[in-house]
Amino acid sequence: MKLISDPGKFIAITEKAGKLKKNIGFVPTMGALHAGHFSLIKQARKENDIVVVSIFVNPAQFGQGEDFKKYPRSFKQDTGFCRKLGVDFVFLPDKDNMYPQGYSTFVSVEPLSGLLCGHSRPGHFRGVATVVAKLLNIVLPDTLYLGQKDAQQAIIISRMVKDLNFPVKVKVMPTVRQEDGLALSSRNAYLSKDQRSVALVLYKALRLAQCMVNNGQRNAARIISRMKQLIEKNKLARIDYIAIVEQEQLKEVKKIIPGTLIALAVKIGRTRLIDNIIIEHI
Ligand code: PAF
Repeated sequence: MKLISDPGKFIAITEKAGKLKKNIGFVPTMGALHAGHFSLIKQARKENDIVVVSIFVNPAQFGQGEDFKKYPRSFKQDTGFCRKLGVDFVFLPDKDNMYPQGYSTFVSVEPLSGLLCGHSRPGHFRGVATVVAKLLNIVLPDTLYLGQKDAQQAIIISRMVKDLNFPVKVKVMPTVRQEDGLALSSRNAYLSKDQRSVALVLYKALRLAQCMVNNGQRNAARIISRMKQLIEKNKLARIDYIAIVEQEQLKEVKKIIPGTLIALAVKIGRTRLIDNIIIEHI
């Protein structure tokens, strides 16, 4: 496994792989790797000749007062995981070679970026789209692997790939959960023991929604209202949003149909967690 931090050097490798007609599978990350990332890497390993993982805590996607400085960084452990999982290249750029002085170009996917998480994190998805566009141009993968836990991110990146004609296939892999249902996230590391048990309320609310749908409920407003009641029973949990939307434009729907996305963001103490489900069958 090779570690490379210079984008220019990485592009040379990418070009060589292209000439040799080798498939590249790419998993972009901000490090603090967990089983959610492992499932993406394993899938990429199954389907490609070359697997690339990037580790870059992207300053452009953190707003003022957000956790850029304290975001967990576990470089040694992360590269160890990558080695075990059979990754070929880890791309580890730093802030200065991704955004050198004079850097001026940003990618903005509108209006998707301003919805749901975009309300409380203005500029976040602009930072995500920009860094992923840059990474795609450096890594030139055949397939990009993303997690369903970040549903809005996956929708925005898929839109950008389509709109800007990036020659890459986007694969979105299912959310990985702990045994009790908590979706894996690098930010779970911020939770105290008590907060960790409160955090389960996100999944409980989604399960309640699924259960209501299974029992015949189709009215989105009624489902949101019950989810809200459930979460608000908990004093430590503060709802940022609960949304029931279609997956193309993230427009609110009144009636649940197959493919409807139910997504929520809840603050537990100072930690903001997100989760979602897609209603598959009705
Ligand atoms: O999901 C993440 O970890 C990040 O948003 C991504 C896609 C690596 C871009 O920095």
